[in-house]
Amino acid sequence: MRAESLVSTDAQQQILAGRTLLLIVGGGVAAYKSLDLVRRLRERGARVRTVLTAAAARFVTPLSFASLSGERVFDDLFSLTDEQEMGHIRLSREADLVVVAPATAHLLARMASGQADDLATTLLLATDKRVLVAPAMNVRMWLHPATRRNIAQLRDDGVLFVGPEEGEMACGEFGPGRMSEPLAIVAAIAAALPGAGRQSLAGRHVVVTSGPTREPIDPARYLSNRSSGKQGHAIAAAAARAGARVTLVSGPVEIDDPPGVETRHVETALQMLAAVEAALPADLFIGAAAVADWRAEPAPDKIKKRPGGAPPSLVLSENPDILARVARRESARPTLVVGFAAETRDMIANAEEKLARKGCDLIVANDVSAAAGVFGGDANEVHLVGPDGVESWPRLDKSDVAARLVARLAERLSQAECAR
Ligand code: PMT
Repeated sequence: MRAESLVSTDAQQQILAGRTLLLIVGGGVAAYKSLDLVRRLRERGARVRTVLTAAAARFVTPLSFASLSGERVFDDLFSLTDEQEMGHIRLSREADLVVVAPATAHLLARMASGQADDLATTLLLATDKRVLVAPAMNVRMWLHPATRRNIAQLRDDGVLFVGPEEGEMACGEFGPGRMSEPLAIVAAIAAALPGAGRQSLAGRHVVVTSGPTREPIDPARYLSNRSSGKQGHAIAAAAARAGARVTLVSGPVEIDDPPGVETRHVETALQMLAAVEAALPADLFIGAAAVADWRAEPAPDKIKKRPGGAPPSLVLSENPDILARVARRESARPTLVVGFAAETRDMIANAEEKLARKGCDLIVANDVSAAAGVFGGDANEVHLVGPDGVESWPRLDKSDVAARLVARLAERLSQAECAR
């Protein structure tokens, strides 16, 4: 285990100690792993209240959860005693976070359609807390269009996901659908808890690029683009709020350096590459800069306009691809390398092509056509394009895109290290 993950386990302990979690256990064979989840959470000082669906109680007994959690286990919406002792609204409101593990295809469908026909779904509808789900199901059920629709709906509703993982399943098939291991769920819970934002990247080093680059033509002129740095700077600020040590490599922008971030100012793509390489090693690299693809050989003196003369021709050469260089490093490659894709058409197909060509782990695609107003604007609508598919977020303020992205990457970082 790497030193960083030890730091992150300490951080998890700090975040989880004294927190109350409401664990809803769905009816799948993975329910047995939730017993270990309860044990791990208790070891880290969390209080766990468990609710079993009727189907879950056929896989694991309420008594096992009661013994491990040291708490009464709830499994019946209409129990008058429960209602008198602990109304279901209170049960969901007193939790810091609601965790659904395993979340079966059926339970996800009921959540997505807002049903409230048993204690588990009633609590999920009544809660005002964040909900984190750990899906577990057969691979074909996971890939079925109905499940994809339900997941998209739940993500839109703000529900957080951890897993599922790919692997051999209880039914003998292979593919995505296996519930994440308890330690990966613990890490996701720690990242999702309110107030955990400050801690979810504690002990990590994050390098972010932002803004445009300027490629000089002569001492007076340059080639550049419309990037304002708002998106990249917001990401650097969110990572710093999440407890990371952040190095921001910024092209020339009009906005202030984010607080709590070490900012290195550069102008050209070559300077940006050198500053990024000097900042490594890092746990996470996020390339949000709009790096110029080409540079000119700058003339030593201002190119003169000659009356009646032909306009000068520019000979361009290709700049190094900073993102691809970082992603393809043989030593000190960051655990996660994330790029952006600025597109004006065929956004997803182009982002998928960039993901493969540059060798990064995730591409955040955004529409930079004039109509979308992303360059220089305050809002962005992004699509997360990864090897497992595409996740589209609604149009959000750039700071919310940044906060969500950082939370998601913190989760993935912990999972990647748990999987080692
Ligand atoms: O700065 P704002 O006004 O807030 O606007 C935000 C943004 C639109 C600039 C940002 O959200 C964004 O999309 N940044 C990436 C812009 C870009 O250069 O995209 P691209 O599709 O050309 O490049 C793909 C990826 O490769 C990017 O991560 C880019 O940083 C990287 N790249 C590209 C060329 C190069 N020579 N080196 C690189 O590292």
